[in-house]
Amino acid sequence: MENYLSFHHIGIACRDIEATKPFYIAQGYVASETVFDPVQSVNICFLDKAGMPRIELLSPIGVDSPVVRTLETSGVAPYHICYEADDITVAISRLKSQHFVLLKKPVPACAIGGKAVCFLYSKNVGLVELVEK
Ligand code: NI
Repeated sequence: MENYLSFHHIGIACRDIEATKPFYIAQGYVASETVFDPVQSVNICFLDKAGMPRIELLSPIGVDSPVVRTLETSGVAPYHICYEADDITVAISRLKSQHFVLLKKPVPACAIGGKAVCFLYSKNVGLVELVEK
């Protein structure tokens, strides 16, 4: 089967980005500026290091953020895996055919240069984020 998704990042729910970030910085990761994402009500910081998976730290702002529940049930933990798709609409319909449910329609994400992102959930796979290439 042709490869229609490529890895983009692992999202990790954390309580305080400034408390979690130093672990990655000590490994040689470089941190982006932390930005507020009003769609998910989270602060977001990306961490990059050559040859290592890109990490996204998300910390909730207020109690409405979906990240809050992850923190309550699992503590600081991986929250989603994000894949890049050439065509986000095609990728969504393919994932739907694999029993994923679209939780949030594609919206521009300020933390990734305004690219369209959306979230899908499968009870067998978990939470997946898509970002348009
Ligand atoms: Ni993400």
